[in-house]
Amino acid sequence: LEYAVKDYGEMIADTVRMEAYHEALRSAVRPGSVVADIGTGTGIFALIACQLGADHVFAIEPSEVIDIARQCAEANGYADRITFYQARSTEVDLPRRADVVVSDMRGILPLYDANVLTAIDARTRFLAPGGKLIPARDSLWATVAEADETYARSVDCWVDHARGFDLSAARELVASTFMRGRDDTRALGPPACLIELDYRKIESPNVEGAVDLAVDTQGTAHGIWMWFDAELVDGVMYSNRPDAPDLVYSRAFFPFPQPVQVAPGDTALLRLSASVFDDDYLFAWSTTIATSAGREKAAFRQTTLDSLPLSPGLLRRSSEYHRPVLAARGRSTLLVLELMDGTRTIGEIADELTASFPSTYRSRSEALRAVTRLSQSWAR
Ligand SMILES: C[S@@+](CC[C@H](N)C(=O)[O-])C[C@H]1O[C@@H](n2cnc3c(N)ncnc32)[C@H](O)[C@@H]1O
Repeated sequence: LEYAVKDYGEMIADTVRMEAYHEALRSAVRPGSVVADIGTGTGIFALIACQLGADHVFAIEPSEVIDIARQCAEANGYADRITFYQARSTEVDLPRRADVVVSDMRGILPLYDANVLTAIDARTRFLAPGGKLIPARDSLWATVAEADETYARSVDCWVDHARGFDLSAARELVASTFMRGRDDTRALGPPACLIELDYRKIESPNVEGAVDLAVDTQGTAHGIWMWFDAELVDGVMYSNRPDAPDLVYSRAFFPFPQPVQVAPGDTALLRLSASVFDDDYLFAWSTTIATSAGREKAAFRQTTLDSLPLSPGLLRRSSEYHRPVLAARGRSTLLVLELMDGTRTIGEIADELTASFPSTYRSRSEALRAVTRLSQSWAR
């Protein structure tokens, strides 16, 4: 969730994205409109909405960058028209519904973090009847791709640079996830639309799609290349497709467990499902590559679940039948939270912490850091 300010700078510097959002806001915001900006970051959409005449903007952002947004609102004379909420939007109640709800919470793909859940919640609780949701829709596209260098550097490095060791466990893990596609990636066939996310009516963040991906070029298929097209409002779109200018999101590359030699006429049947687990997405996908005569060349089943370092102990401790007992860290956290009753300073709490848990907190500065962090998260 946490971005650095330089990351927000890259988002603002993406002129294709920004022009499209500016255009969408121009078409949706009227003088007197109320706007909700979900994930305001440094506040750019809130400022544009004010400039377009919005009566009021509710700008919501859980991370500390909201202070920069506040300063920018002040610097541009809009502080009295923007109410900032430092929280996740799902934890916020707005005093009134908004005519426009705007956000860009995508990662490499729109299926990122709790993005879709957040959009559903914002539509349901914040949007006035007949209001505009920006973005309206994202479509996920996929194609079979060759990516020699990406594959060599990310997947095969665990064999090619293993220095005689068996590092296949790491290779397996990397081949169970997706990564940013590099410049070496090239499509071996035309793209096809795999999944549509229509934020105006989607009801569940869990989605799936299946598509036949044609191959029209001889080559080595290293995986599936995926990106999205965005429709912000009717007629205002941008595309992250490979032959369009690069956008800040880049594109996703889902490596195969093994490269496959493909030829024109081959087809890859791709099925992908994405479901929210613990506030992020778990992807499961299968790919079956066959010749035009129907001979199967390869069949893979992959899931990002295999990329999580889930030890048997962690799995056991995650079971609903497990009876947890506080460990030392838990006991010390409990003590700190109990001591935050308004009578002690952070320094005094840190002193009690080091006295009670000398082997967990070996220095006062370590204890001070821990208490400050807990105070920032849980106290006023
Ligand atoms: C990709 S940045 C976009 C920032 C800015 N709106 C822009 O487009 O330049 C997404 C922001 O959404 C915030 N965010 C993520 N989930 C959120 C939620 N549930 N409620 C509010 N903000 C959220 C993140 O902290 C991040 O600052």
